[in-house]
Amino acid sequence: MRIVLGVGGGIAAYKVASLLRLFTEAGHHVTVIPTEAATRFVGTATWEALSGNPVSNSVFDDVHQVNHVRLGHEADLVVIAPATADLLAKAATGQAGDLLTNTLLMAHGPVLFAPAMHTEMWQHPATRANVETLRGRGAAVLEPASGRLTGSDSGPGRLPEPDAIFDAAMALVHGQTDFQLPLAGKTVTISAGGTREPLDPVRFLGNRSSGKQGVALAVAARNAGATVRLLAAHMEVPPPPGVEVVNVETALQLREAALAAAADSDVVIMSAAVADFRPAEISDTKIKKRDDTADPVITLVRNPDILQELVERRNQGATGPAADSQLIVGFAAETGDKHGDVRAYAEAKLQRKGCDLLVVNHVGSDKVFGKDTNSVVILARSGSEPQEASGTKADVSAAIISRIGFELNQVSPRA
Ligand code: CTP
Repeated sequence: MRIVLGVGGGIAAYKVASLLRLFTEAGHHVTVIPTEAATRFVGTATWEALSGNPVSNSVFDDVHQVNHVRLGHEADLVVIAPATADLLAKAATGQAGDLLTNTLLMAHGPVLFAPAMHTEMWQHPATRANVETLRGRGAAVLEPASGRLTGSDSGPGRLPEPDAIFDAAMALVHGQTDFQLPLAGKTVTISAGGTREPLDPVRFLGNRSSGKQGVALAVAARNAGATVRLLAAHMEVPPPPGVEVVNVETALQLREAALAAAADSDVVIMSAAVADFRPAEISDTKIKKRDDTADPVITLVRNPDILQELVERRNQGATGPAADSQLIVGFAAETGDKHGDVRAYAEAKLQRKGCDLLVVNHVGSDKVFGKDTNSVVILARSGSEPQEASGTKADVSAAIISRIGFELNQVSPRA
């Protein structure tokens, strides 16, 4: 496929180098057209080296090839990233002062804008009107992601992650017109990894969760356009870029972080393996083995059930603005035993915990923990048919996130 990648003059231009790599690695022929301002952030040499094609934004270079007409005509897809307020305005009013704006006027194929700017600029009536004009003409304009912006400010205005722009671009080319990302504008909190409950300054009670599933969910939610907050207990993998990370160690710390995060979350996914019990006492000093005293006995006390508490608070309307529509997703790791099989235990857990969806893993010594693949069943409290998903943890996460997107679009309140 022939792609024109127009780069606007914003700091997020540096992230577009990764987007270019995604396009070229997928085998596409990419012509990069940076605006004059974009080259002050990332130089022409970078775009030429990464695309393998000459780069210019002048209608007076290679005039014999009539580039200002040819590039737009030949492109199967035009992607503008970052689409600055200035570029959106120029595109909406049909200006043609350089090669990129000429190309936009000549484009025959789909056009995707991935905006990035400060929140006030994005929310300004002039920008809103320009976005509406472009959408009205059939162009696709992504919602920017929310989060930390260039200065000390934060809010909607971040460039969506390169993976997300890539996915949206491919969806657009395949004729998906209602391609707005399924979780655009939503805030999703995901707990991941395993809690650790200290016994003394050097020892803890832990579990074998690697955090891979939670991290894969964070990537899938981020790529679906959500603002993602990852509550990271102990994990063997790094958190992904583009998500806010809150580090926690114990179940009590996770509870505090989860209740705080739930206040402005549209979705809470409890994929962390939370210790059900913690040592009743934590020794300030290392517990020593001694010959003159009996071997120590560890007394455990129950940890609060965070998932259940989140559901109770949501149902009481105590979690904040999203209370009446907040979706809460639990995970269940079950082995089954002589009293019941995996499914029976999972159904009982769904009823007991009251969450909207329960993702059920069948675990055993060789299954799930630390592995890259997974096989789950998604049970819904609404009673709809159980849904199976299997494959890599990324595949399973994409299925879970897509199901969450579907559930959020069912309008009725859940409380
Ligand atoms: N969970 C939680 N708080 C706890 C324990 C678990 O929020 N103290 C959450 C987990 O994050 C997961 C779900 O509850 O989403 C199921 O956890 P699991 O350990 O499988 O269930 P338990 O309640 O411990 O039930 P059982 O003892 O039957 O395994």
